[in-house]
Amino acid sequence: MASGIPIEISGLSKHFGPVTAVDDLSFTVQPGKVTGFLGPNGAGKTTTLRVLLGLERASAGTATFGGTPYSGLPRPLETVGAALDANFHPGRTARNHLKVYATAAGLSSARVPAVLEQVGMSEYADRRVGGYSLGMRQRLALAYTLLGDPGVFVLDEPINGLDPEGIKWIRGFLQNLAREGRTVLVSSHLLSEVQQSVDEVVIIAKGRLMKTGTLASLELDSAPRTIADSPDRQALAAALDAAGLEYTEGRSGFIVDEPDPARVGHAAFVGGVELAALHRLRSGLEESFLSLVGGGDES
Ligand SMILES: Nc1ncnc2c1ncn2[C@@H]1O[C@H](COP(=O)(O)OP(=O)(O)OP(=O)(O)O)[C@@H](O)[C@H]1O
Ligand SMILES: [Mg+2]
Repeated sequence: MASGIPIEISGLSKHFGPVTAVDDLSFTVQPGKVTGFLGPNGAGKTTTLRVLLGLERASAGTATFGGTPYSGLPRPLETVGAALDANFHPGRTARNHLKVYATAAGLSSARVPAVLEQVGMSEYADRRVGGYSLGMRQRLALAYTLLGDPGVFVLDEPINGLDPEGIKWIRGFLQNLAREGRTVLVSSHLLSEVQQSVDEVVIIAKGRLMKTGTLASLELDSAPRTIADSPDRQALAAALDAAGLEYTEGRSGFIVDEPDPARVGHAAFVGGVELAALHRLRSGLEESFLSLVGGGDES
């Protein structure tokens, strides 16, 4: 087995004409853990991974495997297993696909049955890929990443399309790779989809880094807060200021850094302010995630 190498993204930007897909992004992915690369649709996840895999040129910054760009890896398939989009020729079988790729990379095709077994696809190996379900295509893409027994895995939305049993299976699969000391980066637009599988998270939105840390640290970020609104927001702001409460203004009112709505209500009462809304903001991983990526800071 090749050893796990850190993935290093440094000051990475990628523009497509006027569109900034990735904006000065820096983070490191360590071996021995499963890292979730999270962000909503259009956040820049696939673009980042495409630059990392040498499929797209960076506008600025670098994306490397322990300092070496993908194009500089002497034996790429034996260093990095990459699954970006599960597009396989529909007329070929899984076994044939893998044989072709193995041969092209100078690997023994003796690995093919083993990797098919590892992803639970032995039974379907001689069927044409055109008739595969999305979940089966995902597993074939994973089989491909395993061909060179690499130390680094870069997987774009590998859980998308899997049924509950498949999700359970991939969780074990990813965790095993990490336990063997490999580097595992897995993107998703849904925290809930990967939350059982990942140890660390890298969260981006609009091409920018929002947070890196353990999954547990994300939970700590999500201390309960209170939502309050008034027909007279200026007056409410003054009342909150007077009570020494910290807040930010959102679409549906003020998000107050105070877990107890009664204290916010009291501040409004003291200030003589009519309230139109007063309730606790649900807390939890998903809320914390949504507030970071700018989707759900208001319930
Ligand atoms: N080849 C391209 N030409 C122009 N714009 C592009 C191109 N590729 C990506 N973009 C734009 O870059 C931004 C980031 O897209 P990207 O596919 O990286 O996001 P993503 O995080 O993978 O989203 P999703 O969850 O939907 O897969 C989007 O605004 C997208 O429209
Ligand atoms: Mg994508």
